[in-house]
Amino acid sequence: MSSHGEPIPMISSACGPLSGTAEVPGDKSISHRSLILGAMAVGETTIEGLLEGQDVLDTAKAMQAFGAEVTNHGGGRWSVQGVGVGGFAEPENVIDCGNSGTGVRLIMGAMATSPIVATFTGDASLNGRPMARVTDPLALFGTQAVGRAGGRLPMTIVGAQDPLPVRYEVPVPSAQVKSAVLLAGLNAPGKTVVVEAEATRDHTERMLAGFGAEITSEHKDEGREITLTGQPELKPQHIDVPRDPSSAAFPVCAALIVPGSDVLVPGIGLNPTRAGLFATLRDMGADLTYENEREEGGEPVADLRARFSPDLKGIEVPPARAASMIDEYPVLSVVASFAQGKTMMAGVKELRVKESDRIDAMAKGLRANGIEVDEGPDWWSVTGRGHGQVPGGGLCASQLDHRIAMSFLILGMAANAPVRVDDGGPIATSFPIFEPLMEALGAQVSRSTA
Ligand code: S3P
Repeated sequence: MSSHGEPIPMISSACGPLSGTAEVPGDKSISHRSLILGAMAVGETTIEGLLEGQDVLDTAKAMQAFGAEVTNHGGGRWSVQGVGVGGFAEPENVIDCGNSGTGVRLIMGAMATSPIVATFTGDASLNGRPMARVTDPLALFGTQAVGRAGGRLPMTIVGAQDPLPVRYEVPVPSAQVKSAVLLAGLNAPGKTVVVEAEATRDHTERMLAGFGAEITSEHKDEGREITLTGQPELKPQHIDVPRDPSSAAFPVCAALIVPGSDVLVPGIGLNPTRAGLFATLRDMGADLTYENEREEGGEPVADLRARFSPDLKGIEVPPARAASMIDEYPVLSVVASFAQGKTMMAGVKELRVKESDRIDAMAKGLRANGIEVDEGPDWWSVTGRGHGQVPGGGLCASQLDHRIAMSFLILGMAANAPVRVDDGGPIATSFPIFEPLMEALGAQVSRSTA
């Protein structure tokens, strides 16, 4: 089942060269944070280029339920009338975050230090994902959480009456956990400190500084130490959301494996905490160049040009790079299928607790398409067959996971037989224009009744 209705079976087949410009939607991580921080500022935040995927729309609805006024002006322009730090109202109903781990975890953090109660739920995927990683640190502020066995949603959060500032060493590399603690720290007096051993995406820190919070980041022996001074008055901002590198990954990877392709993907954020895939593809021999490198809104940005790369080779992906490309391993494994030799991906146990168990979902689907995959608890490897040698012809389960569905549709674009996906519905969570965008480049991807 798709998260929002009946399953949408899809199929993709080998196509001629992909060419043209792929304008991918706004960054999902930054879109969630724009709405949440906008709701916690005093006054009107305006947002341009917001991702209008279901995950972000669910966060917009949630911010309204907590008392912020959120308005869609059309064409990706939105505004949020914020209620200020500590100003959240108690929602009248259950907050449904749909498929979004980022949405629910960040919102739990944002409300955890206000004296209100809220109950959260989601779809079957989200209700299976671990929440203790967020509710454990929130308990240090004095927040209570009651959920299902194993710390699963649906879950009720009782915000702390008199929150205390916290020092927390994040035990797993997770920007969602780090961000939940920082957002909770906003309404605690004094300094909240978060330490992360491995650097994860830093959009929350950058945006908090932009909204006027006092926040510093220092490199220490134990990792990156982030210090936030609580109870600031956040000043509303204008935010231009950059295009999402995680969505750019799909047309980029398609261009690398479809013969003759030459695709430009403009305006992609190359924040080092997000750009690991592109470095990895270049290590594999991809013809991927950065054009017109510039800075926009404090973030490095470039236009990516990806061309068909017939001589890709398998590599060992450096585990230290994992956090900077954690959402891109599924589509990397597709590119690896067209490379010569083995691609080893280690240090990636977080992949098992995403929208699906992404190692399991990709291993099953790749095997169904004639690719050899080995796996362990925190690693997997794909033995590439080389260009023109990927059989395809398989039916893949997307497991309520947008990135799994899109990855297999990319596989079908260069495999020897069409690849089917049981449900493309989840694609709408992050990349609602995936189908028309890929078709405009020349791909053959469609909804099938088969
Ligand atoms: C995200 C953090 C990552 C990533 C997710 C978005 C964020 O999750 O996988 O798609 O916006 O903070 P984790 O925090 O679980 O690593």
